[in-house]
Formats: sequence, structure tokens, C-alpha cells
Amino acid sequence: MKKYAKMIVDRDFRISEIDRRLYGSFIEHLGRAVYTGIYQPGHPEADEEGFRRDVLRLVRELNVPIIRYPGGNFVSTFRWEDSVGPVDRRPHRLDLAWRSLESNEFGLDEFSRWTSKAGADIMMAVNLGTRGVADACHLLEYCNHPSGTLYSDMRAANGRKDPYRIRTWCLGNEMDGPWQFGSKTPEEYGRIACETAKAMKQIDPSIELVSCGSSNSEMPTFPQWEATTLEHDYDYVDYVSLHQYFGNRDGDTENFLAQPVRMDGFIRTVIAACDFVRAKKRGKKDINLSFDEWNVWFHSNADDDDTMANRPWQQAPSLLEDHYTFEDALVVGLMLITLIRHSDRVKIACLAQLVNVIAPIMTEKDGGAWVQTIFYPYFFASRYGRGVALEPVLTSSRHDTSEFSDVNDVESVAVWNEEKEELTIFAVNRDLKDDIVLTTDLASFEGYGLIEHIVLESDDLKAVNSADAQNVAPKAVNRTETDGRCVTSVLHCASFNVIRLGKRHKEA
Ligand code: AHR
Repeated sequence: MKKYAKMIVDRDFRISEIDRRLYGSFIEHLGRAVYTGIYQPGHPEADEEGFRRDVLRLVRELNVPIIRYPGGNFVSTFRWEDSVGPVDRRPHRLDLAWRSLESNEFGLDEFSRWTSKAGADIMMAVNLGTRGVADACHLLEYCNHPSGTLYSDMRAANGRKDPYRIRTWCLGNEMDGPWQFGSKTPEEYGRIACETAKAMKQIDPSIELVSCGSSNSEMPTFPQWEATTLEHDYDYVDYVSLHQYFGNRDGDTENFLAQPVRMDGFIRTVIAACDFVRAKKRGKKDINLSFDEWNVWFHSNADDDDTMANRPWQQAPSLLEDHYTFEDALVVGLMLITLIRHSDRVKIACLAQLVNVIAPIMTEKDGGAWVQTIFYPYFFASRYGRGVALEPVLTSSRHDTSEFSDVNDVESVAVWNEEKEELTIFAVNRDLKDDIVLTTDLASFEGYGLIEHIVLESDDLKAVNSADAQNVAPKAVNRTETDGRCVTSVLHCASFNVIRLGKRHKEA
């Protein structure tokens, strides 16, 4: 059967205005994300604060709106007070999550200065593993209270008079996971999250809080975890978190490219759980979704297990340094399309992570910074995926894989930037052998013409980038034609496509 893809994009089929935080990311005190990643005093690229300028340039290119910090699993044994004040008085600690040493040389105030330079907001996580309500309140007071109290004055004494006004806060991390230090049952977590949220909102009612959802959709307690915990904290929280990582563990690329179907199902089930609790409570607000960890993650697993089991405790060991292939970039593109399609309920999402650790940006300790294959879909979505997500009425030929049935050969979504009068179609052709023609009916976008068609493609699914070679990089192609109403694009087999259209104004 001939393979095909047809789509209708209409300005009235609005999913939602996309929250800018959909293109967030994540920096954890893990491996070389901070030390020799974003911060490396003495490096030729280091600025006066020790921040690597080469990394900052790349982060700014990505236009990252919000960055989650300081973990991840790290946060569950973290004492935030260790990371502020004079550096020579900050204690060195054992980080149990990653079996590493933490010098606290880089902490909260440094991160805040770094994010200002990166042009991003902070999404802060509190420790609900080994700590609780009081410490979360103290941290919030340090960050957001204007002055005249112990912790707000401590912030001023540490050089920052004005409050940080951090708006988005995570109530712990992956608290259902047995690997988490201080992990909890749903009842235990629901109670502590409720009490912490209540106290935090008393200190600063303007904040938004994220309740921990399941660590992934395969957890045995999913989705009862969401239902139970939200029954406790529904009144005080605004979002529930989702985490998901994919991997091509058995070398079955066709099946790997279908895995984002599972992300779609995960999102739908979490929405159902949130709406169930709302209905049960006769609630007046929706709980939205914060997909605050998502990516491909599997290449480094075996090495990391070895490092953590057999090496001595060390500061900033190389951990989770996945080297991403071209096919990983396709999966990242498919995950981005899935997030945009659910932007009516997914308001925050964080590519995990940003630098060196399962990251689009890598650094050489004694060299420069470079970008991985997955940098590009994230870059284009962040740059052109701002505006209104439009419901794609998409029909595509389909195929089965070892795990999934009826998987679309082509996935796509369109984003309309009303202000700029630009429409961007993101499309992935999952088919490994055939080019497929995507025909898009754009009747309601009269006068829109092609700006450019950019593609990420490679003959080698396993191609990777490195400090020396950009084997996988986007290019502009001549594969889209428009006839006023219809846009016809040839999508190369196994490719990520960005088709940009704009309103043509008649000359006066
Ligand atoms: O992003 C890496 C780790 O993955 C995070 O620390 C944790 O939350 C998740 O399991």
C-alpha cells in the first residue's frame, strides 16, 4: 500500500496557547552538569564568576525559558543552606543519590546568577525525602520573602537584596521510587506534600506548586499514585509531574521510534487521574501537567552502574553522558510533537537534562563545548514552537512494530505565531525506508507562503556528533511547494522536518 500523510490545519482548531515553559530544561548536581559543565573557574572560556561562556552561548541559542534545579534524585538529601554564604565555609557533603562528593562551591545564589545570564527562570525543587515542611519554608523565605526575617536577611547578607521571586516549585522528586532517599507511600507523600504546599502558599501565595507524580508510567503504583496523592494535596497544588525516558535497548529502531506513543498514553492517563480527583472533590480548578523530565536515556546505563558501584566517591564523575545518535534525535522530535499536541494541559516540560548529563550540550573539560544530535529538534521547537498549537487533523498510513500496533508513519503538529503571522509545521517521518509526501490543507491561512523547509536527516541512524565532527546537523531543502491552499512536502525517510510558512503581504 502506498504510504501517505494528509493533514488539515485550521486557525480555528486551537489546542491552546503554548506556555513558554513547555521548552524548559534541567540542571542537576549530577556528574559534570555543574562542575566542568556550566561552571569551571580557570577554564579559558570562564567569565569572572567561573561560568563557561561557550556553554552560556549555546544555552541562550536554545532560548530555554525555565530550568529545574538542583535535582532530581540529588534534591532528596540536599541541604540548601550548605550551598549559600561564603564559599570557604560551605561544607563538603556526600551526595547519596549519585554516590558523589558535593563541595557546594556552586550553589543557589550562583545558579540564580547563572540563569540570569542564560535568560532563564528557575524551577526550584524542595527536599521532601530526608527533610520536610520547615526546610521547604525556610528555602522559600530565603528566595522570595522581601526582608526583615532570618532567611530573607541571610540572602541580603549573601549579596542579593531583592527577592528572587521564583514562581514554580517542585514538591520533592520521584517520591514513589524505591531508589529515592526518603521515598514514600502515596498516603505519606500526599500528606507531606499537602502540608508543605499549604505552608509555602501562606508564605508566598503567588507561587505555583508541582506535586510529584509517578516516576514513570511503568511504576506498579501508577496511576493510583496520582489519584491518592492528589486527593490529599489537590487544594494547594497546581501541577502534577510526569517523567519518562526512552531507549533503543534491543536495537529495534522501528519499535524505538514508536515509543513516544507511550508518552501520549501516559499524558492522557494522568489527565484522567487529575480530572477524576477534581470531579470527586467537586473541585473548581484543573490540575495541569508538568512533564519535568523527558528524554532518551540508555546509552550510558551500564557505565554508570559500574562507576557508582566500583569507583571511589569523587566530585563530578562522568555520569549519564549519553552520546546521542541521529535516531535519538528523531525520538526527541516525536516527543516534542507529543508535548505540543497536549499543550492544553501540559504547561511545563523540561528536557532532562541540559549540559553533559543526558544533554543536548556537551563540554570537554580541557576543550570547547559542542552540540549533540538532540540539540536540533529542541532548538527548532523552542524557536518556532511559540504561539498557538493547532489540532492537526492528521491521517497517515500506519505500521505495526514489535510492541505497538497502528503507529502513524508520519506525526505532525502545527504552531501558529499570530503576532508574527507565521505558521510552523513540525513533522517526523518514522518510516525507515520510504520518503512520504505530507499534504497539508491550509485553507484558513490564505496568503501564507513558504519561508523555509529545514530537515534533520542522515543515512546513518547511528550517526553521532562529537567535539570534532557535526555529522548530524540541520539543512534547508527544496522539498515543499505551496499552491495557496495546499502545502505539499516530501518528508525524507527517517527525518525531522520544520516547515515554516508566513503571511505574504501584497505590495501597496
Ligand atoms: O535525570 C536523571 C534522573 O532521572 C533524575 O535525577 C531523576 O529524577 C530521574 O530518575
